[in-house]
Amino acid sequence: MADKLRWGIVGTGGIAKTFAKALDQSQRGVKQAVASRSQEKATEFAAAQGIPTAYGSYEALFADPAVDAVYVATPHPCHYQPVLDAIAAGKHVLCEKPLGVTTDECKQMVAAAEQAGVVLLEGFKQNVHPLLQRMVEIVKSGQLGTIRTIRSCFCYGLGTAYNVRGDLSLYGGGLYDVGCYCINFSRLAAGEEPNDVSAVWTIGEGTGVDENLAVVMRFPAGTVALFDVGIRSAGSGYAEILGTEGSLYVPKPWAPDPKLAEMELRLKGKPVETIQIADGGNSFTLEADHLAAVVAGECEPLIPGSDAVGNAVVMDQIWQRMHG
Ligand SMILES: NC(=O)c1ccc[n+]([C@@H]2O[C@H](COP(=O)([O-])OP(=O)(O)OC[C@H]3O[C@@H](n4cnc5c(N)ncnc54)[C@H](OP(=O)(O)O)[C@@H]3O)[C@@H](O)[C@H]2O)c1
Repeated sequence: MADKLRWGIVGTGGIAKTFAKALDQSQRGVKQAVASRSQEKATEFAAAQGIPTAYGSYEALFADPAVDAVYVATPHPCHYQPVLDAIAAGKHVLCEKPLGVTTDECKQMVAAAEQAGVVLLEGFKQNVHPLLQRMVEIVKSGQLGTIRTIRSCFCYGLGTAYNVRGDLSLYGGGLYDVGCYCINFSRLAAGEEPNDVSAVWTIGEGTGVDENLAVVMRFPAGTVALFDVGIRSAGSGYAEILGTEGSLYVPKPWAPDPKLAEMELRLKGKPVETIQIADGGNSFTLEADHLAAVVAGECEPLIPGSDAVGNAVVMDQIWQRMHG
């Protein structure tokens, strides 16, 4: 393997472009190749992003021995096959969230990576940012007391043009696109898996996907987590963890500011403390460098593919109730 991980990007959409740009700041990775279902799109993307090789099929990229790690940036139900193919070709994989659209898909991908001895990470980029790592430290330290309630929200407004997020055949809707963040956050903060899940939702008339969704989860220790997501509302995103001794409020949990990320620690009887993380970095760059560190055996994965199974169990239940 070369000194730096050589990345192959699969898909040429919005987030593929963001990741390609983030690799420019990477300490441990370089852009090596991009693949599209269309050679023309791949060539155009490669030229715009300064990528040496452009492939007109995903399979061609997996066959390239000069690619060490693959970033899968296709719509949710189109993660499964490229991830399995990349693993079969011996590549390490960073797959966008959610890893799979069913629990079974996630289990299969995790098992394949284990068997092949490659690293598989799920792209919850915020979890590798120092802000969320600090959050986890605070929760684990016990300063907040017993965690009682976890609240979060992720809403945005889709435009009228076609978007994969409004396409039912591509598992569109808020649940898989942004609900996965809130479920992941709640499970991370609770430190266990929920054993009771309730949900209410509104299906869009034109789209057939969940456009408004509110979920409540109860965890075995008694913690209750609630969140709401929406794809047709004004933008909003925050998270809050409330314990018996204090709370932690994270105003921008899903995309921590690379220059100055903040959260508020509110402990009983003490003034509010603003925790600041200066120059924490671009979360996509951190994610790429984290994969390199895991590959080098320097740390345990913060966003292991195996964690996707817990998220998928919750999403499966809600999806079945909405569309089953
Ligand atoms: N971590 C984050 O912050 C973040 C943010 C946004 C999105 N995401 C995730 O990234 C994934 C992609 O989202 P996106 O916003 O980049 O989507 P997008 O702009 O629509 O791009 C998706 C790309 O996937 C490829 N593709 C393969 N099969 C496709 C199909 N059947 N229909 C449409 N495109 C297909 C296309 O590339 P080719 O035609 O070139 O093959 C397309 O450009 C999603 O799973 C999403 O959840 C993550």
